[in-house]
Amino acid sequence: MAVLSLAAMALAYAETKPVNDASPDQVSEIPAVEDLMREHGVLRRILLSDEKMIERIHAGKRFPREDLQKSAGIVRRFIEDYHEKLEEEYLFPKLEKDSRYAELVKSLRAQHQAGRQLTDRILLYAVSAHLNNFGKDQNNLAACLQAFIRMYRPHAAREDTVLFPALHDLVTPAELAEMSDRFEEREQALFGADGFKKIVDEVAELERSLDIYELDQFTPQTEDLEQS
Ligand SMILES: [Fe+2]
Ligand SMILES: [Fe+2]
Repeated sequence: MAVLSLAAMALAYAETKPVNDASPDQVSEIPAVEDLMREHGVLRRILLSDEKMIERIHAGKRFPREDLQKSAGIVRRFIEDYHEKLEEEYLFPKLEKDSRYAELVKSLRAQHQAGRQLTDRILLYAVSAHLNNFGKDQNNLAACLQAFIRMYRPHAAREDTVLFPALHDLVTPAELAEMSDRFEEREQALFGADGFKKIVDEVAELERSLDIYELDQFTPQTEDLEQS
């Protein structure tokens, strides 16, 4: 009973209302592959946030419940219910017909499913681990986040370097242009005008909350490297 209600709470949190406040002539011309690759940029920033949250969980610091729900909510709305759906509807059917890419697409499809299951669990643990302070749930949550990061880094990298380049070989420029239009229409239907920018703003807010927004913190100090 308690688990069911927690699951309902967690899943309800990730739900989104489609926003259709853009007119057709506001559709911008972002090439399909560039569109998908910049969405991977959003995913990579989320993985960085997830890494920071694992650190906080292990350090026993303030439990990052709101940040976790924000992060998993962006994954659900933007990555799983939008970006991956585009791959599944427009790219995978074209590539899996070619024997050179059939196995790769099979793995990518399986990873999308595994990712969705992990997000369900993360949303659930984001609530229950908060209630059972520093209990077993927090270890399970950290393990789910780690598994998510471990899978999606090679997943996105393989798509960037093999799947997307293959698309250029297998479809005509006219088909690619048509795909670009469909992607933009879907983005505007789901997230409104400037949808990508709004999602990036949400990610930046999450990063600020986790103190990882300032890019300079990732620049190594060469003097320190020489000393070590
Ligand atoms: Fe994918
Ligand atoms: Fe992808």
